[in-house]
Amino acid sequence: VKSIAVLTSGGDSQGMNAAVRSVVRSALYHGLEVYGVQRGYQGLLNNDLRPMDLRSVGDIIQRGGTILQTARCKEFLTPEGQQRGADILRERGVDGLVVIGGDGSYQGANKLSKLGIKTMGLPGTIDNDIPFTDYTIGFDTAVSIVVDAINKLRDTMTSHERSSVVEVMGRHCGDIALYAGLASGAETILVPEVPFDLDLVARRMQENFLSGKRHSIILVAEGVGSGEDIAQGITQRNGIEPRVTVLGHIQRGGSPTHNDRILASQLGDFAVRKLMEGDSGKACGIINNELVVTDIDKVVHTKKPFNMDMYNLASRLSL
Ligand code: F6P
Repeated sequence: VKSIAVLTSGGDSQGMNAAVRSVVRSALYHGLEVYGVQRGYQGLLNNDLRPMDLRSVGDIIQRGGTILQTARCKEFLTPEGQQRGADILRERGVDGLVVIGGDGSYQGANKLSKLGIKTMGLPGTIDNDIPFTDYTIGFDTAVSIVVDAINKLRDTMTSHERSSVVEVMGRHCGDIALYAGLASGAETILVPEVPFDLDLVARRMQENFLSGKRHSIILVAEGVGSGEDIAQGITQRNGIEPRVTVLGHIQRGGSPTHNDRILASQLGDFAVRKLMEGDSGKACGIINNELVVTDIDKVVHTKKPFNMDMYNLASRLSL
């Protein structure tokens, strides 16, 4: 490869900028030409590619969001859109593409690689829902935001001896709820991967208050349902009225943690090196602290396994 492009796509995540910086600087270090695609696949279809130099990615490692901006692009879901995207890259003389994003972005990268474009996927999503990597870029920051919010909620809940329902992101994956719940001592963690019984949740809450607990935190991944519905269901069962907090897009903003910056820096450089070795159609990840590649086709057809041991541990420790 002589010339590569990089884009960010789907929901943004903290650390995407650090990943873009790493891709651009590693490519330039190895003497490649690099283009930044503005607004994900939409920008690709608009031929919105601009050359990146060393300074174009200065002062961004610490910033949330993505300087390349992002979009969810309907047209790119069609075979015609995908073919046009591949044609545009060829016309611009680009022979390698690094896609930073989540599941939907990987589907696009998979299609482009089947159309002959050398592609590498980097897992950029707060959800941690990509298989064949222990962590995605942005997950660590999102979890810290949730933990910080729960610390604050605990103060006021304890003063008033109240219960709190906190709704966090994660449509199909409960990892944000799981990790933040374990780290913050939540009483109950509700995730889409594990069926639950609201009667039991309500009874446990009541018993805990009777046995001297002064607050109770229920963490709900949005994939389970709304925090408001869960709170109402609890009130109907035990008469307690939990206060509801929906953390929403706050979880996707702010400066990335050092873990996310380091992961993004390692993966960005790894993707460039893999492209230079002639690899294509691969997703980059980290497993047991080692950088790995997996066929992107396999990644998009696999569901990430849920960590039941961690879930059970959180439950045992929250008595
Ligand atoms: O996939 C990342 C994510 O933040 C999910 O957790 C959430 O369900 C979704 O994106 C929200 O999407 P949007 O920003 O388009 O509302």
